[in-house]
Amino acid sequence: MGNVLENNMYTHWNNFQHMDVFYNDTWQIIYKKMFKLINRYANCNSSILDVGCGSAVFHDYFKKHDYVNVQGIDFSLSMIDAARCRHPSYSYIVGDALNLPFQDDSFDMVVSVQVLRHVPIAVKMVEEMIRVVKPGGFCIVNELNGLDIQFRDILFSSKRKLDEAVVQYLIPVNLERMIRRYGVIVFNDWKSRFLLQPMYIVFKKSKVGEK
Ligand SMILES: C[S@@+](CC[C@H](N)C(=O)[O-])C[C@H]1O[C@@H](n2cnc3c(N)ncnc32)[C@H](O)[C@@H]1O
Repeated sequence: MGNVLENNMYTHWNNFQHMDVFYNDTWQIIYKKMFKLINRYANCNSSILDVGCGSAVFHDYFKKHDYVNVQGIDFSLSMIDAARCRHPSYSYIVGDALNLPFQDDSFDMVVSVQVLRHVPIAVKMVEEMIRVVKPGGFCIVNELNGLDIQFRDILFSSKRKLDEAVVQYLIPVNLERMIRRYGVIVFNDWKSRFLLQPMYIVFKKSKVGEK
């Protein structure tokens, strides 16, 4: 991890002392919806990579539904330590979302919950997710909606501390455009729901010869 921004980010997340924010009701609503989507496109034997997995609180849902093949990656060692304690049967490694240490076409599904706004080059993370998912496999991204200023305030009880780690808030049209460069969008709920809701996008890596 080279530049000053990335080093500051790393320090922020490695010293992160506000794990309780991940347990509040708003977060649970996001996890619930995210898991519902995952379960629609995967099954309990699918290999799933969670990019920026944090302390793996979200993986309680995988556990509850008997998913056996879950891999998490996060660049914060403290997060990964917490994840390993929480779910010893899953696999967790320290690594950068912008340079995933996996071969091309490795996973049935690649997901990410609330991470894109924290990385310096969001489009690079999307590109990496697509690279490591198998052809015909799905990626699912969840992120806050940058159009909803109010939502940011409600969500962040320790707002100022968390805001330090935000590089940019994405808005739906930008996220959609970013993803279209690499994958085919198969589900995108921001058009059918209130514009200010958190964003959930499912996209698919084409198989060779598939349009
Ligand atoms: C808001 S937390 C979300 C954690 C988890 N996905 C969840 O929803 O519970 C953002 C996470 O992204 C991680 N992160 C930020 N930048 C990263 C990067 N470049 N590579 C890997 N992880 C990163 C942080 O360490 C942190 O755990």
